[in-house]
Amino acid sequence: MGAEQLEYYKAKYRTLEDLPSVGPATASKLREIGFRTVEAIATAAVSELVTAGIGEATAAKIIAAARKSMAITFVRGDELVKLRSNMHRLTTGCASLDNLLGGGVESQSITELYGEFGTGKSQICQQLCVTVQLPFEQGGLEAGALYIDTENTFRPERITQMAPRFGLDPEEVLRRIIFAEAYTSNHQMMLLENSDEVIKENNIHLIVIDSVMSHFRSEYLGREMLAPRQQQLNKHLHKLIRLARAFNVAAVITNQVMAQPDVFFAKVVRPVGGHILAHTSHSRIFLRKGRNNVRIAKLTVSPFLPEGEAPIRITERGIESDEDV
Ligand SMILES: Nc1ncnc2c1ncn2[C@@H]1O[C@H](COP(=O)(O)OP(=O)(O)OP(=O)(O)O)[C@@H](O)[C@H]1O
Ligand SMILES: [Mg+2]
Repeated sequence: MGAEQLEYYKAKYRTLEDLPSVGPATASKLREIGFRTVEAIATAAVSELVTAGIGEATAAKIIAAARKSMAITFVRGDELVKLRSNMHRLTTGCASLDNLLGGGVESQSITELYGEFGTGKSQICQQLCVTVQLPFEQGGLEAGALYIDTENTFRPERITQMAPRFGLDPEEVLRRIIFAEAYTSNHQMMLLENSDEVIKENNIHLIVIDSVMSHFRSEYLGREMLAPRQQQLNKHLHKLIRLARAFNVAAVITNQVMAQPDVFFAKVVRPVGGHILAHTSHSRIFLRKGRNNVRIAKLTVSPFLPEGEAPIRITERGIESDEDV
C-alpha cells in the first residue's frame, strides 16, 4: 500500500465510529472492553472484538479496515531498516547505562529492569519519566510518560529533585507524567487495556510498569494457579507490546528476582515471571549492588547488543555515572 493510500485511510478512519459497521452502540461497547482508538482495533484479534457482541465476520471486516489506516504490512529487509528508523532511543540520563544499551531504551519494545530491592529499578524508571520529556537532540522524545505503579513507590518529590539536572522545570515535568496506582493484577491489566486514549491525547512515548509481577505473584499462589497466572500475564504483556508498537512507545517494566534454589555455591538469581516474561522482554537488565554504594547494571538479554556491565550511582540528582558531567 502506498503512502498516499495510507494517508487517505488515516484521514478517513479517525475514530471508531468512522469504521464500517461501527455505530454508536458498537463503538461504546468496544470502548468498554478497552478498544478506544483505531490503532487499538488495528492490532486486535477477531476473538477480542467478538466479546463486544460483534459477529466474527463483521469483526474481521472492522479490523481489516482499521489496518488500512496503519502501516501493518509485509516489508522487505531494506524497507525494514527504514521502518526501524521510526524507532527511537530514549536516553536514561546516565552515560554508562546509555552506552550499555547502545544509546538508551528503545521504543516499540519492552525493556525489563530486574534485581533485588534497593538496586535502583524504580529510580531509573522515574528518571526516564524526566528524560522522555527532553528534546530529541538531547536524547529525549519530547513526550510524556505513563507510570503504572503497583508498589506505591513513585515519588513526585524525586522527580522534582531530578528535573533541574536536565534543565527542566519540575512543575512542567510533573504535568507531563500521567500516574496510576494499580491495586490488583486485574486493575493493573485494566489500566493498560484502557490506556490508548490517554497515550494518544498526552503524547505518551514512555510506559512504565513498576513492578509488573508483584500483584500476579501475591495473588496467584500455589502450583495450580501457575497456568492461569501465566495466561493473564501473557495477555498483559502482549497488550503492552501492542501499545509500544502502535504508538512508538518505549515500554519499561521492573521485576523482582528470586534465588535459584538448585544453585548452592554462587548466588544466582533470576527474574520471576517464567518463560512468558523472558520471551516478551526484548532487553533485560540485571541490577545488583556493588561496593561503595555503586550499582552494577548488566545487560543480560538484547536482540543485538553484546552482554556488558555498567557501574551507576544513585545520588540526590538521580541516576549517574562517572562519565556524566
Ligand atoms: N534522594 C536520594 N539520594 C540518594 N539516593 C537515593 C535517593 N532516593 C533513593 N535513593 C537510593 O535508591 C535506593 C532505592 O532504589 P529503588 O527504589 O530504585 O530500588 P528498587 O530496585 O526499585 O527496589 P524495590 O525492589 O524495593 O522496588 C535506595 O536504597 C537509596 O539508596
Ligand atoms: Mg522499586
